[in-house]
Amino acid sequence: MKLIDGKSIAATVKSEIAKEVANMMDTDQKAPHLAAVLVGNDPASETYVASKERACKEVGFISSIYKLSEKTTEKELLKTIEFLNNDEEIDGYIVQLPLPKHIDTNKIIFAIDPKKDVDGFHPQNVGRMVMDMPCFLPATPAGIMTLLERSGIETEGKNCVVLGRSNIVGTPVAILLSRNSKKANGTVTLCHSRTKNLKEICLTADILIAAIGKAEFVTADMVKDQAVVIDVGIHRISDNSEKGYKIVGDVKFDEVSKKCSHITPVPGGVGPMTIVSLLENTLKAAKIQQKSEL
Ligand code: GUN
Repeated sequence: MKLIDGKSIAATVKSEIAKEVANMMDTDQKAPHLAAVLVGNDPASETYVASKERACKEVGFISSIYKLSEKTTEKELLKTIEFLNNDEEIDGYIVQLPLPKHIDTNKIIFAIDPKKDVDGFHPQNVGRMVMDMPCFLPATPAGIMTLLERSGIETEGKNCVVLGRSNIVGTPVAILLSRNSKKANGTVTLCHSRTKNLKEICLTADILIAAIGKAEFVTADMVKDQAVVIDVGIHRISDNSEKGYKIVGDVKFDEVSKKCSHITPVPGGVGPMTIVSLLENTLKAAKIQQKSEL
């Protein structure tokens, strides 16, 4: 079994981005600027936004955080979005999800300028992704494709089973894997809560993507010998350690890792690459805004 070392692949891509930023600075262009909007005090969201800010610093991007109170109204948030759409200093931005319940998430996503939508969540970017046109790809699916490619994993003609049909991960990764491209060309089955015979379908997978949001859901009896397993989950579960908890994924790592050919660890697999994909999108947004590439 080989570990797909997301941390190390992410570090390589990050150094490539940092080089490009240095080149931009040498030619009197400004550094890419990523902004993040954080509404409320969700601890997981605060951690994600802090990681994104740290990653920006590491590659020489400018980053800013717009921290708004839990009580922010939809109208106030739309005003912030309008400001970010019009601010020429900002190349791309994200609105961290989930938003408080009183805010209509789709209304917010629709308001984001697609040219600055580095999360790739705006319907214009989603539609362009489906049609295989230039767009911003959502970060986690793009990161998964990079992990597969840079680990030398062949996807062409392979049975790929995706567990979970979320807009952020399952649905887009199913689309990317099935694309008519040397880097994809997979035969994809998208499974969800109403799928029948889930275990049997998982056992057909040469590549299994677990994005179901349930801790240690995928067990060894669901995995074919020598399959490639990509674990998108991240969960904190209580244990008897000093910390009182451990981080696990959607896959029961100890038993599945004995059976598969490649697997992503949690943490240190998909997570680090997701953040780097966001950096890649921001670099692309900066090039578009600064008209050096279109
Ligand atoms: N919440 C969980 N994942 C994401 C993501 O990729 N982008 C945003 N904006 N919010 C998230």
